[in-house]
Amino acid sequence: MRTMIPIFQTELGRLYQADCMDVMRSLETDTVDLAFADPPFNLGKRYSSGINDALGETEYLNWCKKWIDELIRLLKPGGALFLWNLPKWNLPLGTHAKDKGLTFRHWIAVDIKYSLPVQKRLYPSHYSLLYFIKGDKPAIFHPDRLPIPCCRHCGGEVRDYGGYKDKMNPAGVNLSDVWIDIPPVRHKKYKKREANALSLRLMDRILSIASDCGSLVIDPLGGSGTTYVAAELLGRRWIGAELECSAIVERFDQIDSDREHLKRIQGEKNTLFTKRDLERRQKKGITPLSKDYRLGTDLSVREDDPDADEPSLFNVAI
Ligand SMILES: C[S@@+](CC[C@H](N)C(=O)[O-])C[C@H]1O[C@@H](n2cnc3c(N)ncnc32)[C@H](O)[C@@H]1O
Repeated sequence: MRTMIPIFQTELGRLYQADCMDVMRSLETDTVDLAFADPPFNLGKRYSSGINDALGETEYLNWCKKWIDELIRLLKPGGALFLWNLPKWNLPLGTHAKDKGLTFRHWIAVDIKYSLPVQKRLYPSHYSLLYFIKGDKPAIFHPDRLPIPCCRHCGGEVRDYGGYKDKMNPAGVNLSDVWIDIPPVRHKKYKKREANALSLRLMDRILSIASDCGSLVIDPLGGSGTTYVAAELLGRRWIGAELECSAIVERFDQIDSDREHLKRIQGEKNTLFTKRDLERRQKKGITPLSKDYRLGTDLSVREDDPDADEPSLFNVAI
């Protein structure tokens, strides 16, 4: 096993500017709690690392299978593997992970906003987030609860919960396998360069489901480092690899902006109504909230939440 030198490190994490296969091969088996990977989608895009994003189909899948196998080796029993990709690729890659002995948990559909229609096809409207575990049961599983979906204009509930309002958990609604509140990419207010940066809300949710403070998280395909920043701010240990790391190092230099963003994201989960929705409702003078709901107490306003500007299905459904 080769020792590698990180290009950047914190007390919690290590980032390697290297091929992810070399990094993973240098790590010990059964040591990782959560693995997440967001590979290039093989759509012929340009990456600052100069990788070829237009491989033949078999070549692309074989490359993905290689790093998936390494991730499986690294996972502890009960550890979680999340794979982010287009449905087209996650179908064969999910089958591969299952054939390699992982237990399938979920195919999570993450709503795509602003996608383009494709001729003679159904309108592509979701990314696939596959969730597997090594072994029979997850070692860690604590999904967040979400607020009741409300109209971004008037704050009114999008759905009527009828006679069940008093049964609703004050901590929010159960997380399902369809996520419609995730911005597709890192919000422009926090995006410092043109890169494929996932949303911090997505990584916060994944890390919250399947890791604890002190857990070890690995993402072999760093990009702009969203996984590492989320892990760092959530107190998880992390290991990262990327062929061209300057954007990640730069992002860590300005981590306060991600810290501020994450605080907002965290203030808007595990509660039945956000304070912002309650305020909108009051401003628009719509029917007061039913007293049947049992509400939590800590509802703080976040008027300047940048994610609030993202249109979502909640907003068009009414
Ligand atoms: C889609 S991006 C990841 C984006 C990331 N999830 C984020 O939120 O910023 C995929 C990244 O994988 C990197 N990559 C591709 N092949 C790699 C390899 N063999 N080793 C390490 N990184 C690689 C690319 O340079 C690219 O930045």
